[in-house]
Amino acid sequence: MRKLPLNVPVPARNARGLAGASAIHESAWKHVSGQARYIDDLPEPESLLHAAVGHSDQAHARIVSMDLSEVSAYPGVVAVITAADVPGHLDIGPVFPGDPVLADGLVEHIGQPIFAVAATSHLAARKAARLAKVEYATMEAAITVDQALEKQLFVRPSQTQQRGDPDDALARAPHRLRGEQYVGGQEHFYLEGQACLVEPTEDRGVFVHTSSQHPSEVQKLVAEVLGLPIHEVQAEVRRMGGGFGGKETQAAPLACVAALLARATGRPVKYRLARADDMIQTGKRHDFYNKYDIGFDGNGLIHGADIMVAGRCGYSPDLSDAIVDRAMFHADNAYFLDQARVTGHRCKTHTVSNTAFRGFGGPQGMMVIEQAMDDIASYLGRDPLDIRKLNLYRPGRDVTHYGQTVEQHLLPEMVDSLEASSDYRQRRQDIIDFNRSSPVLKRGMALTPVKFGISFTAKHLNQAGALVHIYTDGSIEVNHGGTEMGQGLYIKVAQVVASAFQVDLDRIKVSATRTDKVPNTSPTAASSGSDLNGMAALDACEKIRARLTAFAAHHWSVPAEQVSFVNNQVVIGSKSLPWADVIRAAYMNRISLSSSGFYATPKIHYDPATGTGRPFLYYANGVACSEVLIDTFTGEYRVLRTDILQDAGRSLNPEIDIGQIEGGFIQGMGWLTTEELVYSDEGRLLTTGPATYKIPAVSDCPPDLRVALVPESPNREATVFHSKAVGEPPLMLGIAVWSALRNAVASLTDYRYSPRLDTPATPERVLAAVSASQRWLDDQQEHA
Ligand code: MTE
Ligand code: MOS
Repeated sequence: MRKLPLNVPVPARNARGLAGASAIHESAWKHVSGQARYIDDLPEPESLLHAAVGHSDQAHARIVSMDLSEVSAYPGVVAVITAADVPGHLDIGPVFPGDPVLADGLVEHIGQPIFAVAATSHLAARKAARLAKVEYATMEAAITVDQALEKQLFVRPSQTQQRGDPDDALARAPHRLRGEQYVGGQEHFYLEGQACLVEPTEDRGVFVHTSSQHPSEVQKLVAEVLGLPIHEVQAEVRRMGGGFGGKETQAAPLACVAALLARATGRPVKYRLARADDMIQTGKRHDFYNKYDIGFDGNGLIHGADIMVAGRCGYSPDLSDAIVDRAMFHADNAYFLDQARVTGHRCKTHTVSNTAFRGFGGPQGMMVIEQAMDDIASYLGRDPLDIRKLNLYRPGRDVTHYGQTVEQHLLPEMVDSLEASSDYRQRRQDIIDFNRSSPVLKRGMALTPVKFGISFTAKHLNQAGALVHIYTDGSIEVNHGGTEMGQGLYIKVAQVVASAFQVDLDRIKVSATRTDKVPNTSPTAASSGSDLNGMAALDACEKIRARLTAFAAHHWSVPAEQVSFVNNQVVIGSKSLPWADVIRAAYMNRISLSSSGFYATPKIHYDPATGTGRPFLYYANGVACSEVLIDTFTGEYRVLRTDILQDAGRSLNPEIDIGQIEGGFIQGMGWLTTEELVYSDEGRLLTTGPATYKIPAVSDCPPDLRVALVPESPNREATVFHSKAVGEPPLMLGIAVWSALRNAVASLTDYRYSPRLDTPATPERVLAAVSASQRWLDDQQEHA
């Protein structure tokens, strides 16, 4: 992320960039010209030190002794600290305890930080950190979900949601199927690795530049490890080079280590992770083991379901309680399960603590019911799309297994619409014909829906603040609690402010997110960034607009109803004055031109004890249809075409939203196809860089990718300009690719048998499914 010696003129932003217009991303030009500053691009303060940590080499052990003399003696090393040097809290667990900033005698995963070094260069710090002599007393470790389930090791208690009597419904159902699956994890692979820069202040405190989705938590945890009141610590985030959930909790430990080293040395400290260390040391998407037992009738209509989801949480709770909850909330995806039980286990393993990743457990939960849909279809000899359509939530069959009513039924129409626009039926027939005449290459296609709940399931997080200043030249500065990670939140909030005052977008600047401007903020997560911060900014604007209206009415002696804001002007009775003139007049008359704003999401509640409530303000919906081609000799495949229809409500910025949909889909496809995290039996991550961990490349994108937004589809809830969240939901559209791969394999048995296809569905796994199909055919012939 080095700066290029370019000086690209920044074009004026779309002058008509009000909410609903496709204004370009506020940093687009800076991104592409290399002028956008990330942490490692900031000018380095004088006497800067660089941090590194020593890693545990054992998955589960007691530290018997630790000799750090060679570490301290290494040229350039200025300080070496251990748990004993932490003046305040040692535990920095974000929600529940369990994450010591530096291990205190006990290690629980390979890669856990056990001591930290500050040195005069990045390289010296890293080299020195390898020179520790540590003696361990090894203990028994659980590495996989299976091992954790067998030993009943959990980071949090298991939970159940139940409606009606699923056991009875399953016993009575005309047909019944059981299945299981392993759904793989995922490395975030943000382009900018974890990084922070901590500078001591004159009052014992620190100023933290961090690449975090949650600056308020960084602030709080840094204050806690230093033993200071929160106000002694400030955190700033200008932007992240991608977060994807990986910087919701995972940025704070770095900031804490750097702050401790800054305290120990009195010098500024930068801590950035090399890619391999980032992959070893920070949490990822949870892999899951899921099971279903489903009862249905001859049409494929579900009568009852008993579903289990079990996530590999790693050694500590981190956010896993809420992540497994979200998997449970999405084990129905878009389908009415009738009598249903969903059980969720939070498995404790001696591996890195897994964390938020786009979808936050929802994708892993959906996978189990999508597998069941395909399995029911092959069992009944039906097209999987017919089974999916039959079971969609509809009026009358509209209450989820956790008691929330689905109020807006967009999906049945969206599925019909994509079925038509993708030419599904004709292409289905073509594919069947092709497969009959093609012995080696086989095509497959699937159309899958997504229904994703919007709101944090931890109710208190559904709040936001903003701060709006108007300066005397009429220019406007906005600050809010949300962070920019590439998703376009800053431009969307700027558009909201432009709309509130009906002024051009280029009058508005969104400044870096800072804990001393807007306090006690929630993470930018759960796709709620624009819902929450857009509303908070709007609230601030409305307060200022009310003051300006009252002032103008009084000053120019017209009734307040005759004051309005139109196209960079303020209309006051019969005259129309330029915006900046009215602002200057208001200033001269001592009217406050600054306001904070606040928003708290209404209507939501959930009771974990009964497993019921309305955890989500609304649902976002999407549909994808993917076609693939597999080679049954090698298991290799390509995605030929994908059609997507996404519901973004009344979009705040259609082009940005389409970018989110394309990116989300590709990231979801990567998760389910090529991205494989491999651990050794001892719990060592073996895939620690792009050479062994395969994220999708440009060449993996479908050559034919058609993305559309549902036209004129305002959110029926009172969200900001009736828009809908769009950050996470499209990731789950990638399920269409996985289902299409299963469909291509199923062609080998004339769609009568659908072998399991665990994810990631790498070519090896596709090939194994091909072999399973051939074995099934052989068995059939023997029995015939
Ligand atoms: N888009 C980009 N370019 N980079 C990111 O890191 N993170 C995703 C999504 N889209 C991400 C992204 C995740 S996990 C979330 S929760 C949302 O953006 C957060 O932003 P929002 O709430 O403003 O949509
Ligand atoms: Mo997104 S996983 O909620 O940061």
